[in-house]
Amino acid sequence: MMFAATQLETESKSELYAGLAEQARGLLAGERDRIANAANFAALVWYALPGINWCGFYFFDGTELVVGPFQGKPACVRIALGKGVCGMAAAKRETQVVKDVHAFAGHIACDSASRSEIVVPLVDGERLLGVWDVDSPELARFDDEDRAGMQQLCAIFVESVRG
Ligand code: SME
Repeated sequence: MMFAATQLETESKSELYAGLAEQARGLLAGERDRIANAANFAALVWYALPGINWCGFYFFDGTELVVGPFQGKPACVRIALGKGVCGMAAAKRETQVVKDVHAFAGHIACDSASRSEIVVPLVDGERLLGVWDVDSPELARFDDEDRAGMQQLCAIFVESVRG
């Protein structure tokens, strides 16, 4: 037990994401159902990443973003493109890393405990599938390593549901 705990504490972010990517590939392999894969993906990340209070999907329904499988407290259901961190990531098709959500104009507070956030757009070619959103109660929880790690994980998700 001690050995495992020590290993966890000393694992670097890049090692953590490399391990997660391998697990995500295994978990999603052979299944194309978007809800099933999104639910398992959210649960995998929720139990692997320290210091988060929400992680989950918003899917684009052709008009706006609608909440999908997630872990954490109940969340707002619909977000217009361009609104909040999620809507911004979707509209710009660019990952948003927000160090302090209180300083982000238009941030949508679903859980008042959230202090920082990362949102990755899910794009298959030209098609916007939605976004992957992770919140933390810690200020500046997410950095460039999280950006790279989350983008790699999201690419595995998008690939798994490609029709
Ligand atoms: N904070 C997000 C809204 C979604 S919740 O964090 C789950 C935003 O500003 O888009």
